[in-house]
Amino acid sequence: MALMLRNARLVDPQVKTAAGLVDILIRDGRIVEIGKDLDLPKGIERDLEGKYVVPGLVDIHVHLRDPGFEQKEDIASGTRAAAHGGFTAVCAMPNTDPVIDDAVGVEYVKARAAEVGKCRVIVSGACTKDLQGEVLADIGDMAAHGASALTDDGRGIQSAGMMRRVMEYALPFDMPVMVHAQDDSLVGKGQVNEGVASTRLGLLGWPAEGEELEIARDIALCRLTGCPLHIQHITTARGLDLVRVAKAEGLPVTCEVTPHHLFLTEDDITDAYQTTLKVNPPLRTRADADALVAGVIDGTVDAIVTDHAPHTDHEKDREFELAPFGMIGLETSLGLMLTHLVGPGLLTMERLVELMAVNPRAIVGQERVALEPGSVADLTVIDPEAEWTVLREDFYSKAGNSGFLNASLKGRATDVYVGGYATMENGEVIE
Ligand code: DOR
Repeated sequence: MALMLRNARLVDPQVKTAAGLVDILIRDGRIVEIGKDLDLPKGIERDLEGKYVVPGLVDIHVHLRDPGFEQKEDIASGTRAAAHGGFTAVCAMPNTDPVIDDAVGVEYVKARAAEVGKCRVIVSGACTKDLQGEVLADIGDMAAHGASALTDDGRGIQSAGMMRRVMEYALPFDMPVMVHAQDDSLVGKGQVNEGVASTRLGLLGWPAEGEELEIARDIALCRLTGCPLHIQHITTARGLDLVRVAKAEGLPVTCEVTPHHLFLTEDDITDAYQTTLKVNPPLRTRADADALVAGVIDGTVDAIVTDHAPHTDHEKDREFELAPFGMIGLETSLGLMLTHLVGPGLLTMERLVELMAVNPRAIVGQERVALEPGSVADLTVIDPEAEWTVLREDFYSKAGNSGFLNASLKGRATDVYVGGYATMENGEVIE
């Protein structure tokens, strides 16, 4: 069956795209032809009325919570939230119960995603057994069964020697090691950024150095081993400078940032002690957020990710110290980036596509998707003019722990195609 998307405005920095409005012909899951006024002998037609079409968005930092924490989210609900946010693929984090640290776990996530998923699910496996930082996970087996990356996300690997071993094992399997940089001897039970926020709120501090020391260490180990290193949810100006210097040296280092670390700061946590703003690593200073935005614009930041971390209401409706870290993000990420960076002219659409589609795919070794004949038809349609309000009742996620509830945003995904099949049309996920 052929699908014709008419009147699309293409944005793809990887290829020279035609100016003006064009038609995209898709057959057997791939783009067949792009041009003006194409003929469609038989098939489905959709008029995109001048909206943007971009290579399908990919979020490489998502907690689907399945297996084990399905009360928070599961693969069905999390991938629907992803489709609703404009994503064609997500990389699932392994801090589930059981932890994804062997081939069986990888096969479970793949099978469940094939059965109930609304987007592609890229599987990451743990670096160490049960995320304990003590014994290597079954890295080779997980690679053989299709894991694309390794991470102990949610925790830092405390021993430099263990980190070195993880990187040495990952290298021959072509898997990046993605790190949650956190030195427990400095962070302890830190709740919010150490400094003004921790003093003002009377909470234990989570110092910037607890993150920066591990970033510096892991860059040194990247130099030692040659293993590609990806720094997850980077939050500080100095941490970003470390990445900048490593890149200038030519090391295979990449990094990601979340919309909450770009658009919220420690100052947003008031004496209401909003637990939705309790995230790990914590919201930092205004100066840090400004430096992250500069890094997004100048190319130091490679990817925008959400660290979508769903929790139930009863877990978050507790004293700040008792609530779990994390906020959801799949359904607000694109809108936040369009509203705060693209709309005001700080970021081009081309750079947005690099950050949310091209680079994330490359970091976790996925096949390139481009707006050209032959490419897989994973596509996201974006209406840059749509004005909307972030409302909990509109989420497809099971969870509501967003730090952006009631925000007014401009721009969102309206349609999503995965392998040529619609997963969302006119803002509604297709069942
Ligand atoms: O805030 C966070 N929540 N950060 C993480 O690294 C883990 C995540 C979770 O699993 O809830």
